[in-house]
Amino acid sequence: MKFFIDTANLAHIKEAHDLGILDGVTTNPSLMAKEGIKGTQATLDHYKAICEIVDGDISAEVLSTDFDSMVEEGETLAALHPNIVVKVPMIKDGLKAIKYFSDKGIKTNCTLVFSAGQAILAAKAGATYVSPFLGRVDDIGWDGVQLIEQIANIYAIQGYETQILAASIRSSLHIVKCAEAGAHVCTCPLEPILGLLTHPLTASGLAKFVADAEKMKEIMQEQE
Ligand code: G3P
Repeated sequence: MKFFIDTANLAHIKEAHDLGILDGVTTNPSLMAKEGIKGTQATLDHYKAICEIVDGDISAEVLSTDFDSMVEEGETLAALHPNIVVKVPMIKDGLKAIKYFSDKGIKTNCTLVFSAGQAILAAKAGATYVSPFLGRVDDIGWDGVQLIEQIANIYAIQGYETQILAASIRSSLHIVKCAEAGAHVCTCPLEPILGLLTHPLTASGLAKFVADAEKMKEIMQEQE
């Protein structure tokens, strides 16, 4: 499973990249607004800055909701860098735009997906990625991980090539569950990624090793 970071924060992107396990980045208008990015030029410049940090797929979302404007925006975004993936919402015009981009060889990420039916449509339109929002599915009392599993089964049976990009991940456990459920990619903020590193037995085991290493140094110094 590939790891993408779901943020527009350059410091977080750099920190995840420096871990050596980052495969890409996803953003959305809410994440861009959170970083104070406003206006076309600032938005394009920010995507270019992300592309300079990470050599992997970078999802940049269109802001419009009608076909013509989504196509115009998506073509501008795609021209920025070969790693840009145009992120398009799962609506009727969005589906048409995904088909249009797919026919032109432009990579797409179909976002705001909450059902297996929507995931089938995204695959049929030729989306590179489909983004089921598992945390938001959990929020309404359904089972987000089960949705990932269902989509993974359908895609395997049907031979769809669209990659399942599990999104709206809120915890380290979500990441592990997505790997088990067959997601090709998980995208999440920095914290759940860093959370995977920690375990109380690692911390207590290391404390003991460090203490014993000090004793070893003393012995070695005595022998010198
Ligand atoms: O990738 C989608 C993600 O940004 C949404 O996450 O936590 O707002 O549901 P969340």
